[in-house]
Amino acid sequence: MTKIAVMVSGGGTNLQALIDAEKAGKIPHGKITLVIASNAKAYALERAAKAGIESTVVARKSYESQEAFDQAVVDTLRAHDIDMVILAGFLSILGETVIKAYPDRIINIHPSLIPSFCGKGFYGLKVHEAALERGVKVTGATVHLVNEIPDGGRILLQKAVAVEEGDTPEVLQRRVMEQAEWILLPQAAELLAASLNEEE
Ligand code: GRF
Repeated sequence: MTKIAVMVSGGGTNLQALIDAEKAGKIPHGKITLVIASNAKAYALERAAKAGIESTVVARKSYESQEAFDQAVVDTLRAHDIDMVILAGFLSILGETVIKAYPDRIINIHPSLIPSFCGKGFYGLKVHEAALERGVKVTGATVHLVNEIPDGGRILLQKAVAVEEGDTPEVLQRRVMEQAEWILLPQAAELLAASLNEEE
């Protein structure tokens, strides 16, 4: 069974989609055994508690350097015997140490069709503001492997979502979550968990 850690920073709706998918038997090769939040106020921690999943906070500001933070993340993952990591709305930067410890074992959900509207500074509502600003008719979400380049790793899954007349960034974000993110992330989790199961 592939042990999965989910890393969160905010509301945790993607975490909830993963929890619900696991309960529905859609992630048969993986089990979410740990949630790591970048701050103690993340509502995602409530969702983990309700689902009976162990959680911990590893806050970047508690460490004097990126390296010290990265090492704390790796130590936490290793201590829980984690096999793969899912970044679900996680907003802290993960440095080389983490990427090297989990090569091709970290996936991230990004709320656009990469390579559009991605990279440094494109997160949360900013992604949808940029899509509306550009006037694209179609946007969507991407699940990709995480490497040292922000949103630069191999693309695993993508799903398109229509932009509609009068969309605000908030309305568009919600549609992309409902119609793409919450569908793709559990699918990608099972794909990677199954492939790692073979390796073990
Ligand atoms: C949202 O902007 C979502 O598009 C992105 O992370 C942010 C928070 O999502 N993936 P969540 O509700 O915390 O999962």
